[in-house]
Amino acid sequence: MSPDRSRLHIAIQKSGRLNDRSRQLLRDAGLKLSEAGRNQLTTRADNFPLDLMLVRDDDIPTFVADGVCELGIVGQNVLEEYALGQAAPRFEEVARLGFGSCALKIAAPESLDCFTLSMLAGQRIATSYPRLLQRFLVQEGIEAEIVTMRGAVELAPRLGIARFICDLVSTGATLEANGLAPVAEVFHSEAVLVRSLKPIDAAHAEKARALLMRIEGVIATAEAKYIVLNAPEAAISEISAILPGAEAPTVVPLVGRPGHFAVQAVCQESVFWETLERLKAAGASAILVMPIEKMML
Ligand code: PRP
Ligand code: ZN
Repeated sequence: MSPDRSRLHIAIQKSGRLNDRSRQLLRDAGLKLSEAGRNQLTTRADNFPLDLMLVRDDDIPTFVADGVCELGIVGQNVLEEYALGQAAPRFEEVARLGFGSCALKIAAPESLDCFTLSMLAGQRIATSYPRLLQRFLVQEGIEAEIVTMRGAVELAPRLGIARFICDLVSTGATLEANGLAPVAEVFHSEAVLVRSLKPIDAAHAEKARALLMRIEGVIATAEAKYIVLNAPEAAISEISAILPGAEAPTVVPLVGRPGHFAVQAVCQESVFWETLERLKAAGASAILVMPIEKMML
């Protein structure tokens, strides 16, 4: 493959848990993506110089490290497993994306009723994450045998390959369907945006910077709300302190109501009903909470 160097390249998971959300994030950042057919390995953005490379998640760190793709969206579990095998860092995490939350867990057959970590000593543990597992075992001072498998790790106990497994758990449905139960957490993970540390030319860097700014805007607006309320002057400092994640609210006088002001603020954190109740108790009235469609910080 010789990628078109006039365009940026982002590696995303071809299919699986992160694919939909990765595409959605790019769409929210204003990119028009053509629908990829089942066997298509790349997709163009029609209105931005960006090509999507649809690959196996395990291959994403290699693509980004080698600079074949300037950017990538992948789970921290996959990145960390790769990074543990490298002498020096070859990419950097630029943003946590707030989706794809999961954990690498050790699991045992459900029939095992009380578990302690010391029970792993001398046992075989099947996993696709040998380096993360090895680091955990060393930290815990446990000597066990790691059996590396590329997939279908959940089958290992039934096949007699290993007594325990160490695999990614999201909903837990896969473990349950295979008669296994989680017993210890090895690594917590979510989807992140990574950037290659390979130097790129100025024009390319500018495109990447523009895309990153949009993505940061999408992440910031995910939870952000715009709040407008009325309040008497004496209540304004207390109200400002309650507004979640808001800096320097705008305060403007209300015509015809001396001593009363409209307070407007962007709240960067979730606004719950409890927050509104506290604002009201502090003296606020006519409270409006509005979604924010776009934001550039
Ligand atoms: C992981 C893991 C399990 C599944 C667990 O696969 O290997 O098969 O997710 O999810 P659950 O707890 O919701 O049932 P992943 O999506 O990372 O794909 P891959 O391992 O094939 O790359
Ligand atoms: Zn994978």
